Amino acid sequence: MNQPKLKTTIAVLGCGDVGATLAYTLILQSICSEVILVDPKTTLLEGQVRDLSDATYRGGSGTKIRAGTHKDAGQADIIVITAGAKQKPGESRLSLLSRNLHILSSIFGSMAPISEHAILLLVANPVDILTYFARKMSGLPESQVLGTGTSLDSARLRGILAQKAEVAPNSVDAFVLGEHGESQFIAWSSATIGTTPLRLVIPSHFSSSTFKSEIAAHTRGAAGAIIAAKGCTSYGIGNIAASICKYILYDSRTVRPLSFYQPDLGCCLSMPAVIGRRGIVKAMPIELSETERQELESCARGLRMVIEGAEKELSADKELEKALEVDKGT
Ligand SMILES: NC(=O)c1ccc[n+]([C@@H]2O[C@H](COP(=O)([O-])OP(=O)(O)OC[C@H]3O[C@@H](n4cnc5c(N)ncnc54)[C@H](O)[C@@H]3O)[C@@H](O)[C@H]2O)c1
Repeated sequence: MNQPKLKTTIAVLGCGDVGATLAYTLILQSICSEVILVDPKTTLLEGQVRDLSDATYRGGSGTKIRAGTHKDAGQADIIVITAGAKQKPGESRLSLLSRNLHILSSIFGSMAPISEHAILLLVANPVDILTYFARKMSGLPESQVLGTGTSLDSARLRGILAQKAEVAPNSVDAFVLGEHGESQFIAWSSATIGTTPLRLVIPSHFSSSTFKSEIAAHTRGAAGAIIAAKGCTSYGIGNIAASICKYILYDSRTVRPLSFYQPDLGCCLSMPAVIGRRGIVKAMPIELSETERQELESCARGLRMVIEGAEKELSADKELEKALEVDKGT
């Protein structure tokens, strides 16, 4: 007889600053019944599991935490990938590509076979490029592979607009779209507070010639400023990633900008999507102005160029591996 599945498991790969903060948020909010942490730094892993377990003993959390292997992670309901190098102050996200792509490839090698029902959530940077390759390496359907993308940038945008308009952040509907990086752009033409267009709520700000560029610089530069001050960003992204896990497990059908494959653009980047138990339930149409459409296309062009370069690097690696195998055999 088929037993009903009562356990919900989230595997967090990488238990550094981001992975541990995500695990902590999952525990505090009892989002799933089990969190599995995986990290090759075994001393750190053991320490994080013990410390995080202590946070579950006060009695209010329905979540247990344990250390696991990559193989265990492959069978989880949601697999969150925070594993990878992070930016040093002044470094760009794209500069992490080569290192993090190799880590990603080794993760898929160790996790296989992945549960066909798993949802993969990419957090490690450069998140749009890694989401693109995770989709290929995992063999999972496109809808089950997503990246946090500009959801954090959009939260920062909501925060600053809420301050200007003197309303609660969750009353602001405004999205940063495209790359979680330098070429991101704000969909100003569709930004509203309640149902009211932004230009009617804060007319004096909105008509100023520098308002939009200052806000865009704030959202684009926020991570760099935090990294310069404390060496990493963790609370914002930990919270956002935990919310996305909740939308998935609870099949909440929440609309957020997330990075997922865009067939017409040939890359993964952030556009609004409905999130539910199957991952990306559907893309949510958005009307863009002519300028925003151009920004989207230019962003996609840049990402496609990076993908082409990375594909060449991966195939050169495979050729080298093959040559070394032949060499060993002779
Ligand atoms: N998408 C976003 O909005 C966002 C925000 C913040 C950070 N990040 C990214 O998240 C990543 C992690 O950042 P962090 O501050 O936690 O870094 P960190 O260095 O503190 O932690 C990364 C951890 O990954 C582990 N790791 C390496 N290879 C692994 C493997 N094969 N399997 C499992 N774990 C492995 C490392 O041992 C390390 O403990 C970085 O790439 C960073 O740029 C993304």
